[in-house]
Amino acid sequence: MIQALAPLVALLAVALTFGIGAPAASAQAPAGPSPSGETVYKTNCAACHEATSPRVPSRDALRQMPAARIMRALDGGAMMSIALTMSRDERLAVASYLGTPNALSGPPPAAFCSDRTVRLDARPRTSWNGWSPGTGNARFQTSEAAGLRADQVGQLKLKWAFGFDGDVSAFSQPTVLDAHVFVGSAAGVVHAMRADRGCLEWTFQANGPVRAAILAVPANGKHVLLFGDMTGWFYALQAETGALLWKVHVEEHDSTRLTAAALQDGYDWAYREFYRWPSIARGSLAHGTLKHQAKHFFYAAGWKKFEPLWDCVIRAKQLAAMTPVLEAVLSKVTHSLGTSGTPGTEDFSSSPPPNHAENVLEGFSRSVGQCR
Ligand code: HEC
Repeated sequence: MIQALAPLVALLAVALTFGIGAPAASAQAPAGPSPSGETVYKTNCAACHEATSPRVPSRDALRQMPAARIMRALDGGAMMSIALTMSRDERLAVASYLGTPNALSGPPPAAFCSDRTVRLDARPRTSWNGWSPGTGNARFQTSEAAGLRADQVGQLKLKWAFGFDGDVSAFSQPTVLDAHVFVGSAAGVVHAMRADRGCLEWTFQANGPVRAAILAVPANGKHVLLFGDMTGWFYALQAETGALLWKVHVEEHDSTRLTAAALQDGYDWAYREFYRWPSIARGSLAHGTLKHQAKHFFYAAGWKKFEPLWDCVIRAKQLAAMTPVLEAVLSKVTHSLGTSGTPGTEDFSSSPPPNHAENVLEGFSRSVGQCR
């Protein structure tokens, strides 16, 4: 779904044309002075950590821990209940006040599989992708898809168990695609694991706890994993390697719930809406002159009909080179319709004419090369 960027660009263009803009930026809480780590420590931690109980790590012991590990203890580990009422900024302040800047060491080598290759089928035989196998979120899996009958559930035996290092809570739902499991954790570590052995293939450290079910979407012959964390970051990882493709901070709230399924659902809805002929016709009629109505119609219809081509062009980053071609075609079409329009604010033909023929050809052949 996500690979089809072209209609999204188109959709945005249409949304802008008709002023279906985003809602006005919501009012943000004014940024107060950042909390002092020392004050947070004295107020929230010292009562226990200055006492001499052998069960409580002393302040000196905390000072030797990486700040990232202290954050883990606060976000999803032993100190989760203490930190429940603390803001993100307070947690960060006390963690960096107490801890060292050292990176976390990560899981021990013994936790990893000997073969860490992740190869995902475009049509997995077994799959539980995201919150639910269907977009209705019924969380229903058929016997065939599960490879299991309801009356066998009582006879299941534990094959393996995996502990999330330092966490006291496991709250993320795993996504399963054939032999591979992708699961987030309270400490914000996303794990790729072998379903049959419970060993690790790769891990990725997010900025905050990852509670959402991860959604795997096919892209360019591979898969991209989409998920949000509870500090408002949204991520795309290469499923095969765990490499970060991009991340965006979409929400400031301290305890955000973001699901990729909602994103995909919204995208699919917008895609279907935009591509319906009545929508295209309605969009065209919103223009004042026949010329612009025709242009809009042919532009949107051209996009609908030649989507794979535009998809290639965008992926090859050749849209700028190709736009003049489309413009030229459009002006020919609208001209041959014998229409005339008054030049005005709505003039679509602001792009330069295709006078750099070699650039266009080069862009085109590069696009085609990319998509073969
Ligand atoms: C009510 C007492 C209490 C308060 C308040 C408290 N802690 Fe703790 N903390 C403990 C105890 C008890 C342990 C040991 C828990 C264990 O071993 O399971 C601990 C362990 C820890 C650890 C080690 C966790 C690990 O994974 O090894 C860190 C880090 C920590 N506390 C940080 C803090 C910070 C920061 C604060 C203040 C925001 C705080 N604690 C407030 C009682 C407290």
